[in-house]
Amino acid sequence: MSERISVFGTGYLGATHAAGMAELGHEVIGVDIDPAKIERLSRGEVPFYEPGLPELLRRNVESGRLRFTTDAAEAAAFADVHFIGVGTPQLKNGYGADLSFVDAVIETLAPLLDRPAVILGKSTVPVGTAARLAARVRELAPVGDEAQLGWNPEFLREGFAVEDTLRPDRLVLGVDPAVPGRIEEVARRVYAQALARETPFVVTDLATAELVKVSANAFLATKISFINAIAEVCEATGADVTDLADAIGHDARIGRKFLGAGLGFGGGCLPKDIRAFMARAGELGVDQALTFLREVDTVNQRRRQHVVELAGRAVGGSLNGARVAVLGAAFKPDSDDVRDSPALDVAGTLHLRGARVRVHDPEAMDNAAKVWPTLDFVGSAEDAVRDADVVIVATEWRQFRDLDPAVVGSLVAHKRIIDARNCLPADAWIDADWSYRGMGRHAA
Ligand code: UDX
Repeated sequence: MSERISVFGTGYLGATHAAGMAELGHEVIGVDIDPAKIERLSRGEVPFYEPGLPELLRRNVESGRLRFTTDAAEAAAFADVHFIGVGTPQLKNGYGADLSFVDAVIETLAPLLDRPAVILGKSTVPVGTAARLAARVRELAPVGDEAQLGWNPEFLREGFAVEDTLRPDRLVLGVDPAVPGRIEEVARRVYAQALARETPFVVTDLATAELVKVSANAFLATKISFINAIAEVCEATGADVTDLADAIGHDARIGRKFLGAGLGFGGGCLPKDIRAFMARAGELGVDQALTFLREVDTVNQRRRQHVVELAGRAVGGSLNGARVAVLGAAFKPDSDDVRDSPALDVAGTLHLRGARVRVHDPEAMDNAAKVWPTLDFVGSAEDAVRDADVVIVATEWRQFRDLDPAVVGSLVAHKRIIDARNCLPADAWIDADWSYRGMGRHAA
């Protein structure tokens, strides 16, 4: 059965969710305060890079099941289910999450609800936020208790956002057990296809649903920092972290995923979510429970410094005037997102240390240039590596993994490569006479 749905926020999360819901057969209206974004989306254009999303968006805009507006009143009049998919970035002056966008949606939408409606929050929020918002909705909505809010966290990964939205590995719904309502029934209708495939559906209270999301991200961040910490020990002992990860990954209790040692995690979620989680734990008086996340963050930051130091050592000590090629600016491949990107951070730091840095990324250069306008962005990997004293692979795009060591070798000034994502076939580079450095792997 088709539902009438609105999605507030049309960033990575909201735009993908809106298009995904339309693809599932619902009638969807996407809402954003940014008229430029709405105009582009209405034309069927995705304002960021996400594989598969442009096709999904265009198809559903053309079918008439998906449209976009800046007018919240239009969305309130149209839809019975309202998703919140706006951002919750890190506060400028602290570790906590900036909830102003989420609050603004509630303050705008709730007073417009004059018939029964369900609001489902998707944004990642500090525990306790949903209960506060639920009360605020009841207070502001003309329909009172018939306007109900639940929390339905989102686990989509950039690069796989379409797949994760259409075929999630689990669904989580938080409801206030003290307020009997229709939220679960409505969510079951919205996600009918996934539930028919027996996708696990965890229905719980609001606080648990909020904590599920941040705990999942904290766990992933911890797993990455764990293997990166082990990589440090491997480097000190001549051991190889890739073999080690394969070996421990065969243990089903551990698993091989997210044991990729390298430059560490970045992006719009993991770094800010672990910081917001620590900040919230502090407010709740349980800061000690999460002090280990500070170490997770520190290990992660240390990766970036380590790569800068390796580059310095590779060029003989001083980066001043050294020609460095940085391949990659996005925080991970198949994304144009440079938020808290380890790759871009390394490029920027090298530049500040006096190196002559050339950067290439297949998709993220426009976004990167907004953050670091003084870096030299070039149109191809070949242009980036020409005459370089050292090459750093900082994001594991397929284009970089497939580079031919002989061809690249003919372009550079010195055959020195730092594989900061452990993504290259080390033997092939070494056989082609390169001085190869991996992360926690046997040094050549
Ligand atoms: C993450 C979560 O995976 C997703 O469930 C949540 O909804 C949002 O945050 P995303 O930010 O898209 O998704 O990226 P993810 O694929 O998780 O990677 C995060 C970072 O970790 C990237 O910088 C990646 O390069 C790094 N990473 C990942 C590693 O360094 N090693 C690994 O083994 C895996």
